[in-house]
Amino acid sequence: MLTNAVQRAQDILVRPFSLGSLSLPNRVVMAPMTREFSPGGVPGEDVARYYARRAAGGVGLIITEGTYVGHASAGNSARVPHFHGDEALAGWSAVAEAVHREGGRIMPQLWHVGMDRTAGNPPVPDAPRIGPSGIALDGSHAGQEMTRADIDDVVAAYASAAASAEALGFDGVEIHGGHGYLVDQFLWSRTNRRTDGYGGDVARRTRFAAEIVAACRAAVSDDFPISFRLSQWKVNNYQARIAETPQELETVLGLLAEAGADIFHCSTRRFHLPEFEGSDLNLAGWAKKVSGKPAISVGSVGLSNEFLQVFQGEQARVTDIADLLDRMEREEFDLVAVGRALLGDPEWLTKILAGRVDELTPFHVGLVGSLH
Ligand SMILES: Cc1cc2nc3c(=O)[nH]c(=O)nc-3n(C[C@H](O)[C@H](O)[C@H](O)COP(=O)(O)O)c2cc1C
Repeated sequence: MLTNAVQRAQDILVRPFSLGSLSLPNRVVMAPMTREFSPGGVPGEDVARYYARRAAGGVGLIITEGTYVGHASAGNSARVPHFHGDEALAGWSAVAEAVHREGGRIMPQLWHVGMDRTAGNPPVPDAPRIGPSGIALDGSHAGQEMTRADIDDVVAAYASAAASAEALGFDGVEIHGGHGYLVDQFLWSRTNRRTDGYGGDVARRTRFAAEIVAACRAAVSDDFPISFRLSQWKVNNYQARIAETPQELETVLGLLAEAGADIFHCSTRRFHLPEFEGSDLNLAGWAKKVSGKPAISVGSVGLSNEFLQVFQGEQARVTDIADLLDRMEREEFDLVAVGRALLGDPEWLTKILAGRVDELTPFHVGLVGSLH
């Protein structure tokens, strides 16, 4: 017999959602997670099977791990997949096919690391480390300020990847605009000190991101969904903010929506934390409110014991699953992304919706080392 919590989860999570040409059977998204299992930048059959398992496990939409756009300075690992070049794209075509065979939907996440290009084994070792001002996340001068030609090249690389995604049969694309990588380095005042039209106030700092969105929009069909992922926090800096106020957030997202973004994927580490004072809304809630566009929330869904206790029929106190379902019922945001819990167990959603929580494989960091 289903507990009330399981029934409620079914009622709220298993509602269809559509966005342009994309129709989803439920509201649960697999969050993008870098796995580094694509030697030479080419995703193989093991990567296809990894995503197909999550599709078979019922997740409505898969957003892939970050994939490098076709620009020499885009990446910092030779094992992160590319989204350019015949071999890598053939690998991605097989991934999309495998996911579709299981009834799933999938979007690649398009990525350029910018000044984060520090690790030992980048795909193009002698390419320069570039960013809006050559300034790393810690504020140090550590690379080259992008020229206007660099900017145009990167924008074109995103557009080309978006066109490839549509041509290969993907269901949309996501632009990685968060976590302190290149697009976010433009959005953040600490790393963007430019004095041309790409730097200055929050609207000018949004110009690069908006040009990427507009170029992607122009490269794909009108109804091909474009998601934009953003975060306030940066790698190693959880206090950082691109928008200090709802008004600043409205400026950023308004420009991105105008450029053609269809949905905002708001990366927070805990979905239940309010974003600005005076309201319970989280970042996704605010994004939806100020932009009028749908939003995806994320952050620690399914990881706490309280989450599971509710499903096991223990006292119905306000715990994170109840809070999540309340927020979704109120339409604070439209979709919820799940990362680590789905990395732990490909069948996470199926088991949750059947109340089979005893059978879940919980996430632990050791699982990051394998592609199960
Ligand atoms: C192993 C791992 C790799 C990640 N890689 C990416 C990535 O490539 N792109 C991205 O936007 N977020 C990335 N993230 C962040 C996740 O998408 C997600 O926002 C985060 O894990 C919080 O969700 P969770 O609490 O459900 O795991 C990564 C997270 C993990 C655990």
